[in-house]
Amino acid sequence: MGRTSVVEARKPESIGQRALVQGWVRTRRDSKAGFSFLEVNDGSCMSNLQIIADGSLPNYESEVKRLTAGCSVSAYGEIKSSGGQGQATELLAERLQVHGWADPETYPLQKKRHSFEKLREWAHLRPRTNTFGAVARVRNCVCRSIHQFFQQRGFLYVHTPIITASDCEGAGEMFRVTTLNLEDLPRKDGRIDHTLDFFDRPSYLTVSGQLEAEIFATALGNVYTFGPTFRAENSNTSRHLAEFWMIEPEMAFYELTDNMDLAEQFLKQVCRDVREQCDEDIQFFHDRIDNTVLPTLDAILEHDFVRLPYNEAIEILERSGQTFEFPVSWGSDLQSEHERFLTEQQFRRPVILHDYPRTIKPFYMRVNDDGRTVRAMDVLVPKVGEIIGGSQREERLDVLEARMLEQQLRPEDYWWYLDLRRFGTVPHAGFGLGLERVLQFITGMANIRDVIPFPRTPGNAEF
Ligand code: 4AD
Ligand code: MG
Repeated sequence: MGRTSVVEARKPESIGQRALVQGWVRTRRDSKAGFSFLEVNDGSCMSNLQIIADGSLPNYESEVKRLTAGCSVSAYGEIKSSGGQGQATELLAERLQVHGWADPETYPLQKKRHSFEKLREWAHLRPRTNTFGAVARVRNCVCRSIHQFFQQRGFLYVHTPIITASDCEGAGEMFRVTTLNLEDLPRKDGRIDHTLDFFDRPSYLTVSGQLEAEIFATALGNVYTFGPTFRAENSNTSRHLAEFWMIEPEMAFYELTDNMDLAEQFLKQVCRDVREQCDEDIQFFHDRIDNTVLPTLDAILEHDFVRLPYNEAIEILERSGQTFEFPVSWGSDLQSEHERFLTEQQFRRPVILHDYPRTIKPFYMRVNDDGRTVRAMDVLVPKVGEIIGGSQREERLDVLEARMLEQQLRPEDYWWYLDLRRFGTVPHAGFGLGLERVLQFITGMANIRDVIPFPRTPGNAEF
């Protein structure tokens, strides 16, 4: 007989059906009348299914009465209507099989609540908690919504490489990929001889799939890539990971305003889908994690995002009367305290900041006529700050080459990227959304390490 999930078994329509429910015991309560209540969870939803195990079961004394949190069981029986609070159904077990015990002396997830820091040490067990089960379900929903959003608009999903020789962001924060013997590096003229390495040249884990996405956009129109990206920035913050997932759409014939329109529709659709499809989990985050989760989601759906030129943002911040840890002036990059001031206090909604100084943005962004700014856009949201970074791309060959030199990049290393401007160049634009940042925003989870199954941060790569 096939397994019935807890989410199915909890529906009133299931009453009267026979079902096999399988999962992990959360609690056991024995009644004086000679039977036990088991709360069983199988991850299909946050709620448990109550299972009634009667004293007449053959293994009642020998096994059922020894069940504790974490034990795995199969229960077969009829789904009945339940008089219990918060549940329409329960399962009256006719057979109850124990698959695995979990010694209450050593199983870490007992009734006591653990801090999220502590749970990070048990990355192999934390998916069994309410919070991390909910994070996993919401993460899945967001990914489904992302693919649907682009697929419904005819975007092609392209797979860009994970190993690359080019630094897209030009920031030099890349992990090296090599098969050279680090204990005994081959040298030529006093320098490491990269021609003997696996790829004949220095290679890295990618920081972004954008450059390769541009190759496909300038052939196929609208594309997106969605994969893991890696940054060796040594920033131990609640918003940075060394390995994170990024969604990067790239659109031919798009200019900056088209790019902003798409980014806004995209974020709204993802929030709408989560709101509709993850009701129970979102309610949990609102009640237990951050009581601004629901109003924040609703506000995103109700209001247009603010669109604010960088120049004006600097003026607002300078006039704000706030004392910031990092003072602002034209030409400086915004820190998260500034981003949060704009989204949480000044406007109380997402802000798309655009046209940043050229000196603080990568080489590929299109230079404006003023010569000082580039067609960049960052989407900033309350609580998290920057969630999307994007731009219109520089499609003029000479300007792009000059920008590369300005940023100490060698145009010859990017000959293929420059070819896209040599042959049939078009205006185009794109952006990158950090998956974990959007999950932080939606769930209210304060630390980015708690919205990815296995966080990679400085000093952490065990599981
Ligand atoms: O602003 P970023 O660096 O932009 C790019 O990589 C572009 N190539 C994207 C594009 O235009 N196709 O990164 C984009 C987003 C950020 O806004 C943030 O949400 C996320 O990626 N991000 C990180 N998330 C977690 N940990 C980190 N270390 C991150 N760095 C960036
Ligand atoms: Mg950025």
